[in-house]
Amino acid sequence: MSWKKIVLSSVLTAVVVGVVVGVVVWAVMREEEVAPPELRKLDWWEHTVIYQIYPRSFKDYDGNGIGDLKGITQNLEHLVDAGVGALWMSPIFQSPMIDFGYDISDFYAIHDEYGTMEDFVELVKKAKELGLKVILDYVPNHASTYSDYFINSENRKQGYEDYFVWADYKVDPQNASARLVPSNWISQFGGSVWEWSEKRQQFYLHQFAIEQADFNFRNQAVKDEMVKIMLYWIEKGADGFRVDAIPHLFETAPDENGNYPDEPLSGNMFLRPDQAGYTTQIHVRDLIELYDVVYDWRTAVDEWAKQNGSETKVLLAEAYANISMTMLYYGDEKGRVGAHFPFNFDFITALSAKSSARDFAYVIRHWLTYMPQGRVANWVFGNHDQSRMPSRFRDDMVDGLNSLNMLLPGVAITYQGEEIGMRDGFVSWEDTKDVAALNQGNASNYLEFSRDPCRTPYHWNNSTSAGFSTNVTTWLPVAEDYKEINLQAQKDVSVSHFKIYQSLTKLRKEVALSHGEYDVQALTQNTLLLVRYLRTYDTYGLVFNVGTVADTINLSGITLLSEPLTVYTASVQSSRSPGNELPMENLTLQPGEVIVFKAPPT
Ligand SMILES: *[C@@H]1O[C@H](CO)[C@@H](O)[C@H](O)[C@H]1NC(C)=O
Ligand SMILES: *[C@@H]1O[C@H](CO)[C@@H](O)[C@H](O)[C@H]1NC(C)=O
Ligand SMILES: *[C@@H]1O[C@H](CO)[C@@H](O)[C@H](O)[C@H]1NC(C)=O
Ligand SMILES: *[C@@H]1O[C@H](CO)[C@@H](O)[C@H](O)[C@H]1NC(C)=O
Repeated sequence: MSWKKIVLSSVLTAVVVGVVVGVVVWAVMREEEVAPPELRKLDWWEHTVIYQIYPRSFKDYDGNGIGDLKGITQNLEHLVDAGVGALWMSPIFQSPMIDFGYDISDFYAIHDEYGTMEDFVELVKKAKELGLKVILDYVPNHASTYSDYFINSENRKQGYEDYFVWADYKVDPQNASARLVPSNWISQFGGSVWEWSEKRQQFYLHQFAIEQADFNFRNQAVKDEMVKIMLYWIEKGADGFRVDAIPHLFETAPDENGNYPDEPLSGNMFLRPDQAGYTTQIHVRDLIELYDVVYDWRTAVDEWAKQNGSETKVLLAEAYANISMTMLYYGDEKGRVGAHFPFNFDFITALSAKSSARDFAYVIRHWLTYMPQGRVANWVFGNHDQSRMPSRFRDDMVDGLNSLNMLLPGVAITYQGEEIGMRDGFVSWEDTKDVAALNQGNASNYLEFSRDPCRTPYHWNNSTSAGFSTNVTTWLPVAEDYKEINLQAQKDVSVSHFKIYQSLTKLRKEVALSHGEYDVQALTQNTLLLVRYLRTYDTYGLVFNVGTVADTINLSGITLLSEPLTVYTASVQSSRSPGNELPMENLTLQPGEVIVFKAPPT
């Protein structure tokens, strides 16, 4: 090579290198200019979808008409297919089934109708392989009267004497041989909370069924045992717990003479004297002491996770309480933390088919406003204690409600069947199994109390017993509409509640949904607008007509939204299809119609 060539090639090389470097630098700088600050990495539970399984009614593997663990294991793929991240199973522990598993007789064993410990281990193993977390139901408020705890306590066995809340009878000044209950407190399932024990010659307290005796949480041995139970199941592979009935953990203690105070009468004239609500419950729920126990549980599970270098174990609090008592489950002003979240039941307790878009906006903002800064919200549309979502609202609102669930910030919770729009089943008085209905109702009014209609078996397909069981007889009857509403039928068509549900869970991977801000407002009396947005990321939103008549809206004045709006998914009754462009003005929505759309970054 001549020197000229060398110089030339060096110059060329320098130019090429220079240009390349320049482009790279320019690209990096440009990248820095437009790339948003790093997004906070979310913990596994913070934006997941939790699917509640009612084990007795999910899938019957052995054909006895009762759901079981093998049935769940065999069908975990459905959960993956639906796009959920975690399952929560209502109680699977040994139980005489007075309250279908919420009356536990052995907290360390699997209920025999549901399977064995091996079946549980197998379920967890497969769930983990599929990337699903497993949340168990933890019932610390009470034990079955068939439990060893109770039998030992009733027999005053050493160490168990004060495991439950025992009290002497009150003397009747008019009748020396009568034994009066210690106070006028009424059980959640009707009747006095006090039940006489012939053996111990004392009353014990039960806030739910007679066979569900309340633990005495003022006894350290009980508190220790409860933590031991939680850690036992964590060791077996549980990823956390839904904690049952926490507001009832404590009752007011007796005075120094052993006397319990009565509650004032509520004055509610629609209730009988033996029905909960006849008195104002000031001594049997929301006692401030209970929060210390919840904060201690959190410490215990966090400590376990830290010691074992494991992922977060979650505590989800079931608490029907007012907003201030509910938010305290997150933690207190002193910086103590409790549950990862208390369930948000506002869609159940504060909204119905009669609610306007303004009611929806108000109720959604209510939770988000009261929630402590930096904590995670959640949304519940139904469960095993409440009328099913389409029955409480309307059939035509299924996709709209599922869309809200999936687009609102935080964790979405789905009760089995909501993904296909299952409605309450009809259960006759003769077939009624729920203790709440049997205790408080009769042949003409039991449906006011019964939780059986929301617990009928899952509809897999249109075959025998809706594919739930090979048995024509099932523990609760299969709802009559299973031929019309079932999973297989919805998989077989291109537009269905299930297909929409799948596309919604998929959408949750978008940054605007996992990390974004929210805006929620009523555009009209009946149409709700929810917008999720974050800086340079695509905006997503929905418009949902919660009313019973068509509604025409205008989106052109909404500053968060710019054209073009593209349909991402829409409800089954919608004439819009994914990919359609939406008009900003004169957009008409049918009753119950929802349109989920994408918009350019704000
Ligand atoms: C006194 O109480 C006993 C036990 O409950 C009852 O059998 C009896 O009838 C009562 N006597 C009167 C006079 O009410
Ligand atoms: C978790 O840590 C505890 C205490 O160090 C230990 O006894 C236990 O075996 C560990 N469990 C697992 C599953 O690693
Ligand atoms: C909630 O309930 C608690 C305990 O019963 C009561 O002290 C408080 O005033 C109530 N708060 C609201 C906002 O109703
Ligand atoms: C059922 O109970 C209600 C309320 O106590 C009562 O009014 C009604 O007569 C009862 N009906 C039957 C069929 O027993």
